[in-house]
Amino acid sequence: MGANMDSNDWKDEYNVNHEIIDAQHKKLFDMINDLKKAIDAKSGSDVIDSIMKEMSDYTFYHFSFEESYMEQIRFPQLAEHKEYHENLKKRLYDIFNQFYTDQNTSCCEVLQFLENWWKKHILEKDRCYYEFIESVRK
Ligand SMILES: [Fe+2]
Repeated sequence: MGANMDSNDWKDEYNVNHEIIDAQHKKLFDMINDLKKAIDAKSGSDVIDSIMKEMSDYTFYHFSFEESYMEQIRFPQLAEHKEYHENLKKRLYDIFNQFYTDQNTSCCEVLQFLENWWKKHILEKDRCYYEFIESVRK
């Protein structure tokens, strides 16, 4: 795989200052890395399938956890944030589906999509509830 297949390292800037949510985000990063390793090791489709399945299940679980948290803190942009989650759920379904049915969709594309999506979402969108709770605490 190319130079863009470096390990997907966790950075402090991804922290949203919530112990459980940070741990869940780290686990999602780990799953992306597992997928990378499996692809690099040319693992069979059964291994890849099970990682993808586990990843989408965990994503759904994480989103509902995060949504309950945002509800609990009365985050004003909850509806908007839920839409970003719904959107990813659909795109996850599409990209995995595309991966299985279209020979031209590579594992790299799937990985790149997942990495970019998560980094951007955590830094830009999850950041909003973090900033909201910080402002309320003051
Ligand atoms: Fe989120």
